[in-house]
Amino acid sequence: MSLNYKGQNLFIENTSIKSIVRKNNTPFYLYSYKKIKDNFENFYNYFKKVSPLVCFSVKSNSNVSILTELRKLGSGADVVSEGELLKALRAKINPKKIVFSGVGKTDSELRLAIKKRVLLINVESESEALLINKISKKMNRVTSIGIRLNPNVDANTLSKISTGKLDSKFGLLSKNFLRFCKSSKNLKNIKINAISVHIGSQITSIAPYKRTLNAIRKIIKLSKTNFDYVDLGGGFGIQYKNKDKKIDIKNYSNLVQKFQKETNCKIIFEPGRYIVGNTGSLVSRIVFIKKNGKKYFIILDAGMNDFMRPALYNAKHEIVSVSKSKKRIAGNIEFVGPICESTDTFLKYKNFSFLKEGEYVAITNVGAYGSTLSSNYNTRPLASEIIIKKGKIKVIRKRQKISEII
Ligand code: LLP
Repeated sequence: MSLNYKGQNLFIENTSIKSIVRKNNTPFYLYSYKKIKDNFENFYNYFKKVSPLVCFSVKSNSNVSILTELRKLGSGADVVSEGELLKALRAKINPKKIVFSGVGKTDSELRLAIKKRVLLINVESESEALLINKISKKMNRVTSIGIRLNPNVDANTLSKISTGKLDSKFGLLSKNFLRFCKSSKNLKNIKINAISVHIGSQITSIAPYKRTLNAIRKIIKLSKTNFDYVDLGGGFGIQYKNKDKKIDIKNYSNLVQKFQKETNCKIIFEPGRYIVGNTGSLVSRIVFIKKNGKKYFIILDAGMNDFMRPALYNAKHEIVSVSKSKKRIAGNIEFVGPICESTDTFLKYKNFSFLKEGEYVAITNVGAYGSTLSSNYNTRPLASEIIIKKGKIKVIRKRQKISEII
């Protein structure tokens, strides 16, 4: 997490959260630039020996200022829509460092990617490849594509974020992959440059990655195709709580090194959560506190529209108070949002630092799939986003105006 206490007060690096809420209305996302930089460099260093291209997965956090900072650190982008592609380009990420994934890319999305000459369009069906060939022919281009393999590997993660199994909608199963490699030989306006995979998200064990590398080895051998790139996707899990299992990336990097020596392909990664997950918090004000039955409800001004993961995946994100009290409240305590749904709830505690209406709390580790999953449900404007960089407080997205959504 990017927050720490100094005495009773919560800080992000050396800036107190109190000083930020004084000038900015809640709820807002609050990021630490230093943490983003450390995570990116740390990730790159694990794999330094294979000099990978790291394409940050924009779906995890698509704030253009954050993308710009990542670009300055050397990152490319993994995008899945026209909007994400335009954001990556706005952040001045070189198209030669952009890969375009997704199962249902439309004509106009493909046209834009082809026109911008992105490094790879990672194709997920034979129909998509035919369409890319057709559009490229009209535009008089040869487009570089990757084919996404469905390696039929169980990522041992939440079923809702698992993507590499036989019955999932992603990629081509090996039989179809091989058939396509053969039949595509007469498609003159595409060039198969890569194999791509992505087996799921919040993965904490290396075993599924190992099985995936083996599946790729097999396909390379059987397809008798020379691939310039192998795009190994993302999925690296983080510790949401201290006791959560830590993924052994060092171990994985050894496997990747060996794999690269054998295959001689250039390696691409698409990490999202690992780079930004623990860099952000959602700061929120306590609107009311009430007791129903035996439970204290702490009603926040942030709701499931601002931060969806608990409602959608039953994800647990720790909540901390901006000013800790020496007094505690014991009993059933539940932090909830203002939305008219019972799933609009964040976390339950049995014991918490004493809280009052009007005080502030922070929901932690929301840097990935936080802001990007938010919505206008209940006609609520999107929250603002703030980053702390070298002691400076910078608003990197203003709160949406209600007039924009009416
Ligand atoms: N590449 C592809 C093709 C992907 O589909 C994804 C994530 C990534 C890379 C990045 O995965 P990461 O390194 O962040 O795990 N909303 C869910 C996560 C969905 C992930 C979807 N795909 C959540 O909040 O847990």
